[in-house]
Amino acid sequence: MVEKLENILLQVSKSPIIDEGKLEQATQLIIKSVIEGLDISRVGVWLYDDESACITSQYLLDANKGEQSSATICATDFPNYFNALKQERTIIANRASEHPATSELKAYLEQFGIVAMLDVPLRHKGKMIGVMCCESTQPERQWTGDEVAFVGILADIYGRAVSAAERVRYEQLLIKHNEDLEQRVAERTKSLEDALSNFKQAQDRLVETEKMAALGKLVAGVAHEVNTPLGIAVTATTHCEHRLKKLKQSFDEGKISRNTLTQYIHDTLDAYALMNSNLERAASLIQNFKKTAVDQSSFELVECSLGDYISSLVISLRPMVKKKKVTIQTHCEEELTIKTYRGALAQVITNLISNCAEHAFKTPDENHQIDIFVEKENADAVVRITDNGAGIEPDIQHKIFEPFYTTARDDGGSGLGLSIVYNLVQRKLNGTIDVQSQLNKGTTFTVRLPNIID
Ligand SMILES: Nc1ncnc2c1ncn2[C@@H]1O[C@H](COP(=O)(O)OP(=O)(O)OP(=O)(O)O)[C@@H](O)[C@H]1O
Ligand SMILES: [Mg+2]
Repeated sequence: MVEKLENILLQVSKSPIIDEGKLEQATQLIIKSVIEGLDISRVGVWLYDDESACITSQYLLDANKGEQSSATICATDFPNYFNALKQERTIIANRASEHPATSELKAYLEQFGIVAMLDVPLRHKGKMIGVMCCESTQPERQWTGDEVAFVGILADIYGRAVSAAERVRYEQLLIKHNEDLEQRVAERTKSLEDALSNFKQAQDRLVETEKMAALGKLVAGVAHEVNTPLGIAVTATTHCEHRLKKLKQSFDEGKISRNTLTQYIHDTLDAYALMNSNLERAASLIQNFKKTAVDQSSFELVECSLGDYISSLVISLRPMVKKKKVTIQTHCEEELTIKTYRGALAQVITNLISNCAEHAFKTPDENHQIDIFVEKENADAVVRITDNGAGIEPDIQHKIFEPFYTTARDDGGSGLGLSIVYNLVQRKLNGTIDVQSQLNKGTTFTVRLPNIID
């Protein structure tokens, strides 16, 4: 190939414009190179429509007149030319007006004074997408083999430019898709975060309600329990008043005998003893309850003698289990003191005992028993709460600490009790809790607590 053409090809092939994806600039470069290499004035890139029935000039340059407006020609008007294009071979028409493929373009040839035509197929991914038309107005033009090869190579470079443009378009689409995706992920994340925060708020509210409900149960139980000794004391007082009125009447009538007086003193002393013991019992119940109730709502880190504390808590809890005739016993051989949140501990034990009353023991029975063992194990204080009740089915044991899991939905259970217990033990008390249970034998909850004070 002549040096001039080789140099042009080298320049075009090395130009970054070809692979930058800007097809219009690449087309201009290629067309100008063809004009320069072949020393002609008109070159155009014509592309097929979807049906390959027409070709339209995408870029048509006249070296003297500049860029030409777009034109279209169709197979219906120029069947021979389109048949020749279909062969996908270069059309070399040195005399265009006489060449079988181009002679029917007569009007076009005359309009622009075209004498010779060189039409080279444009391909992309192996498929012919159009044609590069090189048109010469020189009176005698014989296209040389070098020139044909030169335009062929530039046509291939055009295919490379189309690929680059396509790649850049896909890259941009991909970037856009990624941005859309990121945006969608951000929106979804935001809505999930909102939902989670709403859920947490709702859960907090439920937990709060549940705490109040537990306290309510405790209050109801204690109120009932206090009522009994108070009732006895009131009856004893009324009895004493009645006896005193009768004594006064006998005295007023001067009919009082030594025997009546002795009997009166004896009865009154008995009544006073009864009043005293019952009022003391009521006072001690109230005192214990006050301690527990205050603890339930105050969360301070304090020293706590576990055995004593749990024993006094159990007194407040007895009314809660009384209906089912349950006995609660605390076993603590050596006194253990730990630094802990007493209120949280009270809530944990209250919930576990309330669960025994509700789930372990279905009907009242004298044999129902809850034992609370307080022991030291390595560096931990361990509180074991054992019942001899119904037990928990093996396949639900792993679910009972989940929020809202309950087997007592119909009886008003919310399933929050053990999830609150779990959270309090793990997060507030820094301990662990686990469960062992055997159907029809009973259940043991083991709570391990750190921070023993020696
Ligand atoms: N001591 C126990 N014996 C037998 N089953 C138990 C015992 N403690 C808990 N369970 C089972 O664990 C489930 C979950 O207990 P949890 O305290 O979380 O909820 P609940 O008691 O059903 O409802 P809530 O405590 O909200 O009123 C109970 O429904 C019950 O099936
Ligand atoms: Mg419960």
